[in-house]
Amino acid sequence: MSSQSPLPDGESAAAHVDGERLWRRLGELAALGATGGGGVRRLALGPEETLARRLVGRWAEARGFSVTVDGIGNLFVRREGRSPSAPPVLTGSHLDTQPAGGRFDGAFGVLAALEVLEALEDGEVSTDAAVVAVAWTNEEGARFQPGTMGSAVFAGELELASALAIQDSQGVTVGEALARVLEESGVGEPCSTGFPLSAYVEAHIEQGPLLEAARVPVGAVTGIQGLRWFEVVVLGEEGHAGTLPATRRRDALMSAVDVVHALRAVLADPEDLLRFTVGRFECSPGSPNTIPGRVLFTIDLRHPDAAVLTARADLIAQTCRDAAGPCEVSVQETVSSSPVVFDPRIVELVERSARRLGLDCLRLPSGAGHDASHMARVCPTGMLFVPCAGGRSHTETESAEPGDLAAGARVLAEVVCELARAR
Ligand code: HGY
Ligand code: MN
Ligand code: MN
Repeated sequence: MSSQSPLPDGESAAAHVDGERLWRRLGELAALGATGGGGVRRLALGPEETLARRLVGRWAEARGFSVTVDGIGNLFVRREGRSPSAPPVLTGSHLDTQPAGGRFDGAFGVLAALEVLEALEDGEVSTDAAVVAVAWTNEEGARFQPGTMGSAVFAGELELASALAIQDSQGVTVGEALARVLEESGVGEPCSTGFPLSAYVEAHIEQGPLLEAARVPVGAVTGIQGLRWFEVVVLGEEGHAGTLPATRRRDALMSAVDVVHALRAVLADPEDLLRFTVGRFECSPGSPNTIPGRVLFTIDLRHPDAAVLTARADLIAQTCRDAAGPCEVSVQETVSSSPVVFDPRIVELVERSARRLGLDCLRLPSGAGHDASHMARVCPTGMLFVPCAGGRSHTETESAEPGDLAAGARVLAEVVCELARAR
């Protein structure tokens, strides 16, 4: 037995975070859905996610952690604490990616959470409350909308039955895809959908440029900006590209272009805080010599101030109608998530933990959405960020430094240990 007094739990857990193991596992996970451009395509509840769940399950079971899955497919890895009745501390993120996504968005938070459980085990640290790592189902919303689906169901903000009935563009429901993934991955015993928690903390790459620009390795996240998603359908009339004069056309593509231009004008923001994105633009029938009869496009609108977001979002429908010319237009809101402020005690704990480990820390809001936005409505919640190169994310060129990732996992270990301490 060393003559030194034992380290406080958090420090001994942090000291046992194995940055090499974390980096190696990030590489193994990135291989599941690897794209030619160095990124990852692991759409929610697809075959690559089956393999990812199997891999995480294998790592978890090798350490004797229990693995469960709830009704929407959220995957939980549990390390017991001294008090089985104490609500666990939950930490994690998501395994699904954008269609041409990066290897760290989501994956870092899941594997940092698993690394914390491993470090607790390696450091023989006993916590009062259990510590549970989670991989939320369908955070990205690229295949099934809305995103952050698993955490929304867990938090009671989306009905399970409604979520299971949602279809992808091929008509496959979440329920069908989930059943296939659970069957083929063979990972996790069933558990209840939603259970009491003492806190939730998520580690994530920043997906923005601030930490890198400030040369600060850790971000204590203060909250998440508000987000609204819309689907706009412009309906015109198909016709022959060679014969119909312009005066007789109801060209859905030309009208949709006018609508997007009008939206861009009305959603312009001199402060550059409002985020307006048209990420999907589908034109049918898509034949070079047929006048398009239908266009569907999406709107992703975000702002940190709820009142500003509402005021701008309220302009969308009328702006579309006014700019659609001879075509009809329908606007449907598909996601609405108001701005979230994280628990100041957790924000402060992230800062204090980073400093205890000799790491500089910067407070910052999150421009990106996360599962933590739902968790903040059910328990004390916070996030910690690590830098990513150029702030790039949702792109195959997303990258992060092993040292920053390991430092983030160490801070997470400290934070989780403090939260799992007897109250
Ligand atoms: O869309 C988002 O902000 C998240 O990264 N999925
Ligand atoms: Mn993410
Ligand atoms: Mn993402």
